[in-house]
This record gives sequence, structure tokens and C-alpha cells, in this order.
Amino acid sequence: MGIAGTGSYLPERVVPNAWFEGFLDTSDEWIVQRTGIRERRFAAGHEACSDLCIAAARKALEAAKLAPEDLDLIVVGTLTPDHLLPSTACLVQQALGARNAGAFDVNAACTGFLTALHSGEAFVAAGRARRVLVIGAEVLSRFIDLKDRTSCILFGDGAGAAVLAPYAEAGRGEILETTLGADGSGFEFIHMVAGGSRAPATPDTLQRGEHWIRVHGREIFRFAVARMSSMIEDFVARYGAEEVGLIVPHQVNRRIIDAALDRIGMTDEKVVVNIQSYANTSAATVPIAFDEAVRAGRVEKGKLVIFVAFGAGLTWGSTLIRW
Ligand code: ACO
Repeated sequence: MGIAGTGSYLPERVVPNAWFEGFLDTSDEWIVQRTGIRERRFAAGHEACSDLCIAAARKALEAAKLAPEDLDLIVVGTLTPDHLLPSTACLVQQALGARNAGAFDVNAACTGFLTALHSGEAFVAAGRARRVLVIGAEVLSRFIDLKDRTSCILFGDGAGAAVLAPYAEAGRGEILETTLGADGSGFEFIHMVAGGSRAPATPDTLQRGEHWIRVHGREIFRFAVARMSSMIEDFVARYGAEEVGLIVPHQVNRRIIDAALDRIGMTDEKVVVNIQSYANTSAATVPIAFDEAVRAGRVEKGKLVIFVAFGAGLTWGSTLIRW
């Protein structure tokens, strides 16, 4: 099982940190120092999650030299779907004209792309699908509370995609291992309280601001550093640091990435970091960063690539690929 092609899409509108200074008690200096973020992209008014998915998917299919009809399955990882019903994957299927593909969404927050990748890989390994389009995409700008300086500055919009195909056909990106984990006891650390069956939307839930993403940043910080370093360390211990060509971590906070790498003594040049340009796009950070690295020629043939992500749930996951 290999990765035949990748693609990504970022909305055009660039929102620099200075934009928040206009209405919040914050500063570009604080945001850069505490997070590494300088700017992010926000989707245009007419763009929803599926639009970002479709743009990224078209590029991934083009890179894979495959047509939409070649796909057996589409899996979208997102926490910001177009609608609660139906799935965003179905909208993508229809827009692409992928008439032979099944389609479903997975919600694992920032671990969404790795969960989609893991699912697609499992379908292929079980012989239930041959070519799978996996996508991580978010329009988080629609779910941030612009009055909450502790969370709204963290997020951006974007999408990344990959086409999985038999290794003999893809010729690169052999998926060697995937892991997923969860600990629901931390479900309130990153939380959208209302809008589901527990607390359906009412004028009161709106009034109380319960449809925005709430983040307990300090608790996540500790969890994120520990998880990121232990997942990378596990692969490095078994395969050797010199075999690792590239690490693609979830872009959650520059300080978290630095602290995790520091713990395990990995060097910066092997790590893809683009949080300064796009902030945290949740399920989309890993596939966007990976696509940019592939297109920039940063992925060396034969070397190992490590994906690591973690997020609301709490959830976490890792993938080991030989390029
Ligand atoms: N501008 C200025 N001051 C701010 C801002 C802001 N935007 N946000 C918070 N502050 C203030 C706080 O109010 C606090 O002030 P106080 O000391 O008077 O109370 C002070 O800055 C320090 O706040 P901390 O929360 O301790 O700041 P910290 O260094 O932990 O950084 C951050 C906060 C950036 C959120 C960090 O904890 C973090 O990145 N956490 C993990 C990220 C995260 O949870 N992301 C959620 C996405 S889900 C996922 O991807 C896993």
C-alpha cells in the first residue's frame, strides 16, 4: 500500500496576527512568542469544508495520475463539516464525479487525517478497496469565538489530501505502520458544548456561546508534548534516527513541537513546520505540511517519514511511511 499522490488547498485570504489587535486585548508579539503563528488563512464567505476538500483532492488525483472514477472510497477527516447531515465525503464524491466510490467522514479532531488514512489503509489491506482518497480539511474560522483571545488566535482553514493505491502502482510512500489511540476522559479539554444531541441548538445555547470551540490550552500543552515525543521515539527506537528523513507533526504550537523534539534530541532540519503561515488547521495540518514537503522535494526516496497528531477526544495517532 503506497501514497500515489498528494495535494493541498489554502484559502486566499491571509489574516495576520495584527488583525486581532483591532478588537482583542492581544498582540502580534504575544502570539508569535507563545505559539509561533504569524498569520493564518480564512475561507471566503462562499467556501465551506467540501470546497476546500475538492480543491485539495483534485491536486492529489492529478499528482497520482488517476481519475475520480478510479476511486473505490473517499474518507474525509473533519470536525467542521458542511453539514451535520449528510457527510462532507458525499459532497466531495458528487463534485468529483467519483461514481464508483463509497464515502464517509471521520471525526477525530486534529487526529482526523491520520484516522482517515488509517481507515483507508485498513480497507485496502482487507481487500475491500483498491484506491482510496483520504482528506483532512477544516473551516475552523466559522467555529471560533472572536471574543475569546485564548483560543481564536490559534486556528486557520485549509485542506490536504492523499490518494492511497497498491504499492506496485503508487511506487512510493509505502505505509509501514499506523497507530491510533484515545482517552475520552479528556473530552472537555477541547470542546464544542452545544449543537449535538446532548444540547441541541436553542436561543439559550447561542446566547451562552456554546457553539464555539473552547480550549483548555495548558492541559493540552502537557499532553501534546508527551504524546508527540513518545510516538516519534517509538519509531526512532525501532528503526534508528538515521533512517528518518522527515517528521511531519501536527502544527499545534511551535513551542510544543520544539519541546517534543528537544526531549528526544531530534534536529530541526528533519521537521516540517509551517504553523507560522497557516496556524492550526486541525485535521488538515499534517496533509498540508506533507504535500508542501513533497512538492518542495524534501522527501528523500527510501527514507522514513513520520506523521504524528493528537487532538480533541482526546485522540492521537502516528503513521510510519517509507518514501
Ligand atoms: N494575547 C495575549 N494574552 C493572552 C492571550 C492572547 N491571545 N491568550 C492568553 N493570554 C494570557 C492569559 O490570559 C494569561 O494571562 P494571566 O497570566 O494574566 O492569566 C497569559 O496570557 C498566559 O496564558 P497561558 O494560557 O498560560 O499561556 P500559554 O503560554 O500556555 O499559551 C496557548 C497558551 C498558546 C493556548 C498554549 O497553552 C497552547 O498552545 N496550548 C495547546 C494548544 C491547544 O490546545 N490547541 C487547541 C487545538 S486542539 C489541538 O490541536 C490539540
